[in-house]
Amino acid sequence: MSYSIENTDHIIRFGTAAWSDLNTLLKSGQWSSIFVLTDESSQKFCYPIFKEKIKQLELKLLTIPQGESSKSIEWTQKLWEELSENGGDRKSLMINLGGGVVTDLGGFVASTFRRGIDFINVPTTLLSMVDAAIGGKTGIDLGVLKNQIGVVAQPKAIIIFPEFLETLPERELTSGWMEMVKHGFISNEQYLANCLITPNKANPDLKQLIWESVKIKNEVVTQDPYELGRRKTLNFGHTLGHAIESYCLDHRPENFMKHGEAVGIGMILALYLSHITQGFPKTKLSHFSEQLKKLLPEFRFDKTAQEQIISYLIHDKKNAHGRINFVLLRDIGNYVIDCQVTNAQIFEAFNFWQSLE
Ligand SMILES: NC(=O)c1ccc[n+]([C@@H]2O[C@H](COP(=O)([O-])OP(=O)(O)OC[C@H]3O[C@@H](n4cnc5c(N)ncnc54)[C@H](O)[C@@H]3O)[C@@H](O)[C@H]2O)c1
Ligand SMILES: [Zn+2]
Repeated sequence: MSYSIENTDHIIRFGTAAWSDLNTLLKSGQWSSIFVLTDESSQKFCYPIFKEKIKQLELKLLTIPQGESSKSIEWTQKLWEELSENGGDRKSLMINLGGGVVTDLGGFVASTFRRGIDFINVPTTLLSMVDAAIGGKTGIDLGVLKNQIGVVAQPKAIIIFPEFLETLPERELTSGWMEMVKHGFISNEQYLANCLITPNKANPDLKQLIWESVKIKNEVVTQDPYELGRRKTLNFGHTLGHAIESYCLDHRPENFMKHGEAVGIGMILALYLSHITQGFPKTKLSHFSEQLKKLLPEFRFDKTAQEQIISYLIHDKKNAHGRINFVLLRDIGNYVIDCQVTNAQIFEAFNFWQSLE
C-alpha cells in the first residue's frame, strides 16, 4: 500500500515505496551534509530501520531526551550549536525522525538556523503521521505554555512509514487516534465512525485510516495556509485541550497527560459547549462522549484545577483582540469558528466530563 501527494512546494509519500523516493531525493546532491534528529525512543526503535533503508549515506545523528520538555529554547540552542560545531551550513539538511516533539522542534531549529535550512519529516508516532508532521507549523513551548514560539515552514518532504508504529506504546497510539477522530469531527461522519470501530493496532484498516487523515489535514492546510478560516477547525478540542496540557505540565509529573489525551478531553468539552450554544444534537453528544471517554484514562479536575485551566486560555494562539475563540460544531462536519463561551459554560462542560462513567 503506497500513496503520494504532490503539493506545490513539497511531497508526501506513504508506505514502502516512500523510501525509494526519499533515496532519490537524498542522492540529488543538493545538500552538503545530512543531520538526523531523533529522541531517545525514536533513535532506539526507528533509527536502525531508517539507516537500513538509506544505508549508503553519511548521516550525522542528533538526539534529544524524549518528552514535551525538549520543546524548549534550551534544546533549540543546543541543537543550533551542534549543527554549527558539526559542519552545518546553509546547504545542510535536517531529517526529523520522531514524534511531534521531534518534528515541531526539529522544524523550528532547521527553519531558524542560518535563516533556514531544508528539512524533511519522517514521523514515527501516529500523532505525528496524521497531524504534527503535516502543515508546516513548527515551534517550541514557552515554559509550560504550549507552542508560543515558532514559525510556519514547510518540509521538503514528509515520509510516512506506518511500520514504525509496531513499537509504539498503546497509550501513544490512542493519543494519535484522537487527532484522527478530530479530523472526523470537523469533516466527515463516516470517517469518524470508522475510526471509532476498532481504535487500536488490531484495526485491519489502520493504514487506510491513517492515509485518510493525512489527506484531510493536507487538504485543510492547503486550502487555508494562513489560518483565516477553515484551518482553524484543526483546533477543534484544542482550546481547552492546550490549557489542560499546560495545567498538567505545571502541576503534574512529566508525561502525566499526552497531547492527544488532553485533546480528547478538550473535544468532549467542546462537544458539550457545541450542544448548549450551537444546538449540536444531544444523542450525538452522548454517543461520541461515551466512545471517547472509553479511550481516555481517568482524569478528574476539581474546581481549583478548572479555574487554573481557564486562566491558561488567555495564552491560546487562537485568541485575538482579547477574545478566547473556540471551534464548535452544529453537527459533525458543520463547524462554527471564532465562538465565545462564558466561564460558567466551561464549568458546566467540566461537570459533564466528570459525570461520564
Ligand atoms: N505542528 C503541528 O501541527 C502539531 C500538531 C499536533 C501536535 N503537535 C505537537 O506534537 C507533540 C506530540 O507529539 P507525539 O504525540 O508524537 O509525542 P512525542 O513526540 O513526545 O512522542 C511520544 C513518545 O513516543 C516515543 N516514540 C516515538 N516514535 C516511537 C516509535 N516508533 N516506537 C516507540 N516509541 C516511539 C517518543 O520517544 C515519545 O516518548 C506535542 O508537542 C504537540 O503540541 C504539533
Ligand atoms: Zn493536536
